[in-house]
Amino acid sequence: MEARDQRTIARILKVNHAGEHGAIRIYRAQIWVARRLYPDLLPFLTETIGHEIEHCRLFLDAMPQRQARPCRFMGFWGSGGLILGVATALMTRQGIWICTAAIEAAVHRHLDDQLHFVRDRDVQLHALIESIRGEELQHLRTAQENIVARTRWTRFLTAIISWATDVVIWLSTSGDSRKMAQDLAAARLATG
Ligand SMILES: [Fe+2]
Ligand SMILES: [Fe+2]
Repeated sequence: MEARDQRTIARILKVNHAGEHGAIRIYRAQIWVARRLYPDLLPFLTETIGHEIEHCRLFLDAMPQRQARPCRFMGFWGSGGLILGVATALMTRQGIWICTAAIEAAVHRHLDDQLHFVRDRDVQLHALIESIRGEELQHLRTAQENIVARTRWTRFLTAIISWATDVVIWLSTSGDSRKMAQDLAAARLATG
């Protein structure tokens, strides 16, 4: 494999691992609030955090053989996730669903791009990302089904969270995510 492709694959793992770490913190914060205010949401939230913990471990395990190292700013992801999780959960229970839908939609977009890139380059990683994407899609669908009305507020909050997610990804990976996106886009163009 070309060195550039190898670097991109290492970046994919670094960004995904950090993202899962952030997701764990978001769900942990939401669980903390839901225990007090919306106990009916706990079954979904506890099942989902279990998935994210497993995803985080799987991405970490896939790193050494691909010369990838965890992001140096994991604390940043952790605090960002906690703040976002608490802030949206305290709004209303709709805040939890809107936040979850926005985050999971961003995750889904990223994984789709990555699958396209790794398909012919790393079969093992392709299988791993595909199996994880199945669960992320389940999180996204559940959240979307629970959003009762698509108001201007929903769109505004979704836009803010999507933007914040991209900024956190960019900052915490020192621009790696942008380079990764460029390489993924180039690969898409090359293969059509
Ligand atoms: Fe995940
Ligand atoms: Fe998820």
